[in-house]
Amino acid sequence: MTVKASSQSRPYTQGALVPIDLSSTKGPASYDIVIGDSILSEAGNLIAVRLGKRRCLIITDSNVGPLYRVQLEAVLGVAGHSVLPAITIPAGEASKDFATLQKVLDHMLASGVDRKTLIIALGGGVVGDLAGLAASLVMRGVDIVQIPTSLLAQVDSSVGGKTGIDTKHGKNTVGTFYQPRLVIADVALLDSLHEREIRSGYAEVIKYGLIKDAAFYEWCRSNGGKLLGGDREAQIYAVSTSCTHKAKIVAADEREAGERALLNLGHTFGHALETITGYGNLLLHGEAVAIGMVMAMKLSAQLGFCSHNDAYGLRDHLVKVGLPVTPPAFDYDIDRLMELMAQDKKAEAGKMVLILTKGIGQAFISRDVKDGDVRELWAEFLPKT
Ligand code: GLY
Repeated sequence: MTVKASSQSRPYTQGALVPIDLSSTKGPASYDIVIGDSILSEAGNLIAVRLGKRRCLIITDSNVGPLYRVQLEAVLGVAGHSVLPAITIPAGEASKDFATLQKVLDHMLASGVDRKTLIIALGGGVVGDLAGLAASLVMRGVDIVQIPTSLLAQVDSSVGGKTGIDTKHGKNTVGTFYQPRLVIADVALLDSLHEREIRSGYAEVIKYGLIKDAAFYEWCRSNGGKLLGGDREAQIYAVSTSCTHKAKIVAADEREAGERALLNLGHTFGHALETITGYGNLLLHGEAVAIGMVMAMKLSAQLGFCSHNDAYGLRDHLVKVGLPVTPPAFDYDIDRLMELMAQDKKAEAGKMVLILTKGIGQAFISRDVKDGDVRELWAEFLPKT
């Protein structure tokens, strides 16, 4: 597989273009991630030059729609696209369910969506995952453009084609791999996020440093505060560096047969916490990932793979930026947490597969962790009742 991301992507201060080349896979060949400041106004043209003038259907949510839908419809119209009435889902992880998926599919079909209709996902991870799944199913698949509006979606979920909904069996347990045709990441849209949401997305930024880029991890430790404070240059650098890493990994392993699993650092712990606490306001996805990354580093240190200083350094930085490093108060059940971890999508025949690290920037896939060690770790991290 060829990977163009390494040679062609370039972090700019003004903006960045990160191409993902999937030309040797069976899916659509490749697409661009366009990153910049205030580029929502260019969305109509960015789409038209790549995908032609289209009949568009926007899927958004009750938080993001009122802020940006009218502007997006206007710029689509000016660029020569036509626009079907938008679908607005309730904001929040609870919308990633069968009932909302069914409503969205019904609405799409009732609006006259055909194979040439372009779906535009305007929102954070929930909208992107649900709209991606709906786009992959309706008419056996129609084109989708992702316009991520949260930091988490800009650096992770809008890129790479994972779609999904949550079930009682776990997060994203029903979904497809379905690549978008274009991603437009406008960092100016991050201004509308609550501090807690942007911090939550930052956990996914720092993840790329922990997985494979020690220099980027150091950059995060020095510049994370600026990014969270709204510094555009820092945001563009962080989004483009994160997307460059993700593009390379996805190009090498679109279906997560190997390396892509590294992107789940902290997620097996985190997903179990999110599922047990009910995907609600108690714990946002990035917060669960932050806790999960600290747990994965601690376990790596306890098993002798990395130094305890690396684990403490991560914990200290996360605390400094205001992310949680231990689970919030809740009536946890370690057996249930273990069961959820064994049901995680990475698990093989019920055996846990965890992402551990040999140091900053040196994550690896481990199939050898003993259940007893994970249980002890939960006992150490869970709040004492
Ligand atoms: N969020 C992990 C992945 O896209 O593979």
